[in-house]
Amino acid sequence: MLTAIVISVGFLLACSLILAGLLVLAEKIILNYDTCRLDINDGRKVLEVEGGSSLLNSLAEKNIFIPSACGGRGSCAYCKLKVTSGAGPVSPVEEPSLSPEERASNIRLACMVKVRRDLQIEIPEDLFSVRRFKARVARKKPLTHDIVELRLDLLEPAAIEFEAGQYIQLESAEYKGREAVMRGYSISSRPADNQHVELIIRLVPDGICSTWVFEHLNVGDNATFSGPYGLFHLSDTQAPIICIAGGSGMAPIWSIVRDMKDKGITRPTTYFFGALTQKDLFFLDEFRQLENECPWFKFVPALSKEPQDSTWTGERGLITDVVARHFPDTSQHEAYLCGSGGMIDAAIAVLVKNGMPEDNIFYDKF
Ligand SMILES: Cc1cc2nc3c(=O)[nH]c(=O)nc-3n(C[C@H](O)[C@H](O)[C@H](O)COP(=O)(O)OP(=O)(O)OC[C@H]3O[C@@H](n4cnc5c(N)ncnc54)[C@H](O)[C@@H]3O)c2cc1C
Ligand code: FES
Repeated sequence: MLTAIVISVGFLLACSLILAGLLVLAEKIILNYDTCRLDINDGRKVLEVEGGSSLLNSLAEKNIFIPSACGGRGSCAYCKLKVTSGAGPVSPVEEPSLSPEERASNIRLACMVKVRRDLQIEIPEDLFSVRRFKARVARKKPLTHDIVELRLDLLEPAAIEFEAGQYIQLESAEYKGREAVMRGYSISSRPADNQHVELIIRLVPDGICSTWVFEHLNVGDNATFSGPYGLFHLSDTQAPIICIAGGSGMAPIWSIVRDMKDKGITRPTTYFFGALTQKDLFFLDEFRQLENECPWFKFVPALSKEPQDSTWTGERGLITDVVARHFPDTSQHEAYLCGSGGMIDAAIAVLVKNGMPEDNIFYDKF
C-alpha cells in the first residue's frame, strides 16, 4: 500500500516537472515576442526592447534602474510602477504587495510584469538620475564579529550625488554555484565625500550577497552598483530629532548626522543605538568625538543581553524601553528609524503611544 502511494506521488511529481519544463521551453522557443515599445511618462521617452524579459530587467538594460531590494524575487515590493496598458492580469506573486487602491490605479511590480507587448508606464522623475557605477574596494574593515565596513572608490562615473539616508544596490558575482544578485545597502558615508561610497554590511547566515561580501570580495577587487535610491532623508523642518537604529541600521543614520554637521544643521538630535552585548557595538569613539564637537548631538547606546556583572555602565534593556524612559513625551519630535522590521514596528508603537504623529516618523526597514 505504502509503495503504491510513493509510486503515485513520484509519478505525479515527475509529470508536473515535465509539464513545467515543457512550458518554459515553449515560452523560450515557440513564443516570439518580437520587439516591444515602452512608452514612458506619456512619450517623454520611448524605448524599443526585446520582448520576453521582465519589465524591471528590460528597463535596466536601457539604463533605467528601478529599486529592487530583493533582486526581482517579488518579495520586497520596492519595484512598484504604474503600468497603464499592456501588462496583463496581476499575478498571484504580486497580489499580497498591492493594496486595492494600488490595483485600481494600475500599480504593478516591475519584476513580475513580463514584456510581451507594447507597454505604457509611468516612472518617477528622480529615478532617471539613477546611474550604474563601477568601483574598486579601497577598504574592508571589520566593525564587529558580523559587520564590516566597505569603502568603495568610484571609477566610472567618478562621483555620485546623493542625499544622506539613501541607498545603493550592490551587484554580487556568482560564487560556489550561487547566482549573482542585487541587494540594497544604505550609504553610510557623507554626501560631501562624493568620490567614494561607504557601506556597513551585516553577515546574514546563508545570505547570498552578504556572504559574497564577507568571503569573496576583497580590497582591490572591482564592484558594481546602481543608485542612489530611496526617500529616507532628513526632512526640512526644525523639529528635534530622535534616531533609533540597530546593527547595520547604523549606516544611513551615520551619514545623516555627519551631513547635519557638514551643513551646520543644529536641530537637537538624540541617537539611540540598540545592540545585544558590548561585542555588537562599534563607532563608540567616533560618536564621543561627534558629541564633543556638536553640542546639539547625543548618542545613547543600549544593550539588551549584556551580562549583569560586566563592565558596561551605559543603558540596558530593549531599545524601545530606553527611548520611552528618555522621551515620555514625543509629540514635538521627528523620528528616523533604521533596522529590522520587528525593531521598527516596536519603535513606531512606542513613539506614537508617547504622542508622536505617525507622519513625523521616517524609516527604512532592512
Ligand atoms: C533599503 C534597504 C537598505 C538596506 N541597507 C542595508 C545596510 O545598510 N546594511 C545591511 O547589512 N543590510 C541592508 N539591507 C538588507 C540587504 O539588502 C539584504 O537584504 C541583506 O544583506 C541580506 O541579503 P543576502 O543576499 O545576504 O541574503 P539573502 O540571500 O537575500 O537571504 C536572506 C535570508 O533569507 C534566507 N533565504 C534566502 N533565500 C531563501 C529561500 N529561497 N527560502 C528560504 N529562505 C531563504 C537566507 O537563508 C537568509 O537567512 C537593506 C535593505 C533595504 C531594503
Ligand atoms: S524587485 Fe523586489 S518585488 Fe520586485
